[in-house]
Amino acid sequence: MIRFENVRKKYGDTVILDNLSFNIEPGEFVVLIGPSGCGKTTTLKSINRLITPDKGKIFVDGQDISEVNPVKLRRKIGYVIQQIGLFPNMTIEQNIGIVPKRLKYPKSKIKEITQELMEMVGMSYEEYAHKYPSELSGGQQQRIGVLRALAASPPIVLMDEPFGALDPMTRSILQDEIVKLHKKLKKTIVFVTHDMNEALDLADKIIFMEKGEIVQMATPDEMLAHPASALIRDFMRKSSSSADSSDLTAADFMKTKFFSVYKKRSIRECTDLMARQHIDSLLIKNDDDTFAGIVTIRDIKKHGKSSGSIGDITPYDNITSSISENAKESFDKLYNTGDNYVVVLEDNKTIAGIISKTSMATAMADTLWGDMQ
Ligand SMILES: Nc1ncnc2c1ncn2[C@@H]1O[C@H](COP(=O)(O)OP(=O)(O)O)[C@@H](O)[C@H]1O
Ligand SMILES: [Mg+2]
Repeated sequence: MIRFENVRKKYGDTVILDNLSFNIEPGEFVVLIGPSGCGKTTTLKSINRLITPDKGKIFVDGQDISEVNPVKLRRKIGYVIQQIGLFPNMTIEQNIGIVPKRLKYPKSKIKEITQELMEMVGMSYEEYAHKYPSELSGGQQQRIGVLRALAASPPIVLMDEPFGALDPMTRSILQDEIVKLHKKLKKTIVFVTHDMNEALDLADKIIFMEKGEIVQMATPDEMLAHPASALIRDFMRKSSSSADSSDLTAADFMKTKFFSVYKKRSIRECTDLMARQHIDSLLIKNDDDTFAGIVTIRDIKKHGKSSGSIGDITPYDNITSSISENAKESFDKLYNTGDNYVVVLEDNKTIAGIISKTSMATAMADTLWGDMQ
């Protein structure tokens, strides 16, 4: 799909790409990695002719790209960069539709594409399509950047550190999404990063570069097992010791302060407690201290009477997490339930804590800024 043959690029006397040769198969997810300044971006930009090599040849789909009109070439190649580059004065729908519009797709078709793409990353069209980029979070904007690159359905997508500016949690969510998109859409993806965890998670094949040369080209497993140089080993070591959000569990994010009562308590006692503590829900326990359910003030109001025990009106269908569960899974649950929090259970089903949207935000800040004690 993409082939480099002895590609060379110099700026002045400095060799930036040194006889680069490699081959990328259709549908492959290839990650280019290496230290800053090793030539990753230059390699990427050579593929869509934003940069012209001094020597050597690049083939896309069997065609020598120096003989293809750059505009025509770029229609086949989506491009995502770190600084998102959404147009601030255009809505999300208009941003996603830029290329299809230029290709003169009918309006109805563009809307269809936009809806479909937004659905794939779990963003509601009704809610977001007519908003402006500044109304979205960084993570959401970057999602739109990715969707925009996919809108005209190019067989190839180039991504230059697309998630580099995001916090670890959002980044890990977007990494999962890109893997899903790749599986579903079967694009050829060339993805640049300097983060080895990201490379190992995403790649079918990793190309490790140093000073404009390929040091190793291998599958993640091969590279892990047999790193070809000290520098690669160093990259692996650093990334395995760095905080990786995917290692965090529900226990790392939960609050252990919560209010719980036994089932047999009267509804009146419970409403008094809620009023005193200024809370609008309570965790309900069985006699053996295992979690039974959540009762909200709304459930009590619906019941309409203060006689009877709280257990009689407890809905028992709450989604829960376990303390050892991956934090991201817990956050997914939190966003999928209508509740304000997810209850975290010990292995013996007693209550360990709760994860709320606030605890999630605090945890993200911690991951971003480090321990602030
Ligand atoms: N337009 C340019 N003029 C001169 N040097 C450049 C230019 N663009 C990039 N370089 C140099 O080329 C090298 C490779 O850059 P780049 O491909 O952006 O590296 P990476 O993406 O791996 O960090 C760097 O040393 C950079 O300073
Ligand atoms: Mg770069």
